[in-house]
Amino acid sequence: MASPQLLALLLLLLLAGTGTGTGTAPTLIFLLGGQSNMGGRGGATSGAWDGVVPAECAASPRILRLSPELRWEEAREPLHAGIDVHNVLGVGPGMPFAHAVCASRAIPPSTVIGLVPCAQGGTPIANWTRGTELYQRMVTRARAAMATATATATTAALLWYQGEADTIRREDAEVYAGKMEAMVRDLRRDLALPELLVIQVGIATGQGKFVEAVREAQKAVRLPWLKYVDAKGLPIANDYTHLTTPAQVKLGKLLAKAYLSTL
Ligand SMILES: *[C@@H]1O[C@H](CO)[C@@H](O)[C@H](O)[C@H]1NC(C)=O
Repeated sequence: MASPQLLALLLLLLLAGTGTGTGTAPTLIFLLGGQSNMGGRGGATSGAWDGVVPAECAASPRILRLSPELRWEEAREPLHAGIDVHNVLGVGPGMPFAHAVCASRAIPPSTVIGLVPCAQGGTPIANWTRGTELYQRMVTRARAAMATATATATTAALLWYQGEADTIRREDAEVYAGKMEAMVRDLRRDLALPELLVIQVGIATGQGKFVEAVREAQKAVRLPWLKYVDAKGLPIANDYTHLTTPAQVKLGKLLAKAYLSTL
């Protein structure tokens, strides 16, 4: 018959062995860029956020975010608070994405996800080319994330949901693919991550009438290490622009599936 002390010791060893992932620095980093549907407007399209956080978006010790002050903290909705400024924020795809990645058997249980929110509402791709404020902010945040993560951490992907603001003028839609390709090439070079995976979301809505033209441009983007996930068909709020909270949960899962398919 084992003594209570021995049982307690065995339990401790068991807990340590399974790695519950409560570290304060992440092991797996994801960059999140784009405009409002990446920033998150789920439940926030009527002037205020309804505060509804589904289980798939709940805070977890295994999911951190890089704060506006470039520090790691437990992530919670709205994930882009302090980043996607001057907007009423709600649920986006980042938290459900991280939960779905954590739940995968392809990921070690000791994994701690580090989300690096960088999106800003209403911004066309021209606001993200090399030299712009938003591009520079994304590079600065990505570098800070890599510098403060665990020594063996990996920067796994950029999740990108943007293009609605490029549907207003035909000229913008026409140059979209080239601008997107240039942005990714520049980012990979500036971060010294030449094989950084990019998961691009096909837009479901637009601020103008050239939605199909931008969607075609997105599909025409030619880059290595690029995945495409389509948001078209997901539930849209009554502003005809933003994904609902359930839609963001679904998108997060689709993004996770796309990422996990690359492992
Ligand atoms: C987007 O670009 C326009 C034109 O250069 C600029 O006026 C605006 O401040 C930019 N917005 C952001 C959020 O960087």
